[in-house]
Amino acid sequence: MIQLFHVYKHYLKGNAALEDISIQVEKGEFVFLTGPSGAGKTTLLKLMFLAEPPTKGQIIINGYNVTRLKKSAMPFLRRNIGVVFQDFKLLPDRTVFDNVALTLAVLGMSRKGIKKKVWEILKMIGLQHKLNAYPLRLSGGEQQRVSIARALVNEPAILLADEPTGNLDPDLTNDIMKLFEEINIRGTTVVVATHDKGLITTYNKRIITLEHGRIIEK
Ligand SMILES: Nc1ncnc2c1ncn2[C@@H]1O[C@H](COP(=O)(O)OP(=O)(O)O)[C@@H](O)[C@H]1O
Ligand SMILES: [Mg+2]
Repeated sequence: MIQLFHVYKHYLKGNAALEDISIQVEKGEFVFLTGPSGAGKTTLLKLMFLAEPPTKGQIIINGYNVTRLKKSAMPFLRRNIGVVFQDFKLLPDRTVFDNVALTLAVLGMSRKGIKKKVWEILKMIGLQHKLNAYPLRLSGGEQQRVSIARALVNEPAILLADEPTGNLDPDLTNDIMKLFEEINIRGTTVVVATHDKGLITTYNKRIITLEHGRIIEK
């Protein structure tokens, strides 16, 4: 599902963010990507989401060689990947409903179909009563849950989440992790980047550990 072969990432300014990364994540796996701050977790997710090109190496996502993919083909591949960003990236001038619905609207789904899907996913994350609220009127935890709903609404093959529980209290963290596990059981491959050791010890999953841009455990 996700394969990296000898991948390097050097940003224009600064040192190497990733060095010689070779990993393989199978379909249906649930993986924690961990390591201290600055280890390269976010960068690795960005490469998987095609938000950044690698400096060197091969990346295969869903059978597609990303490094050789035409720019025009990238949106099609991205549709199979749900992303939960650390800073949510919700549209402030759109309601919760619209923020979640946008993904489906872009895919050309009918209004009726969109309504049903969005309602289902908002119910799943316990925010159906905030349907018409604007993101900035929500707590950090609620905004995070909306961003998770947006990532999951089109049932992506892959879910990438960057410190998804960073701003949540323990109860909500547990809810979100349960949701990820449920999604995973339904067949979505899940990669969660976190520096939270507690999270990793609580949930018994495969762990990939980065340190200074290199893999020390996989
Ligand atoms: N856009 C960028 N430009 C330059 N350097 C960056 C950029 N993003 C991240 N880095 C650097 O790459 C390294 C890895 O960062 P990051 O992937 O954010 O690590 P983590 O998510 O594990 O904290 C750090 O040294 C960071 O300063
Ligand atoms: Mg990070």
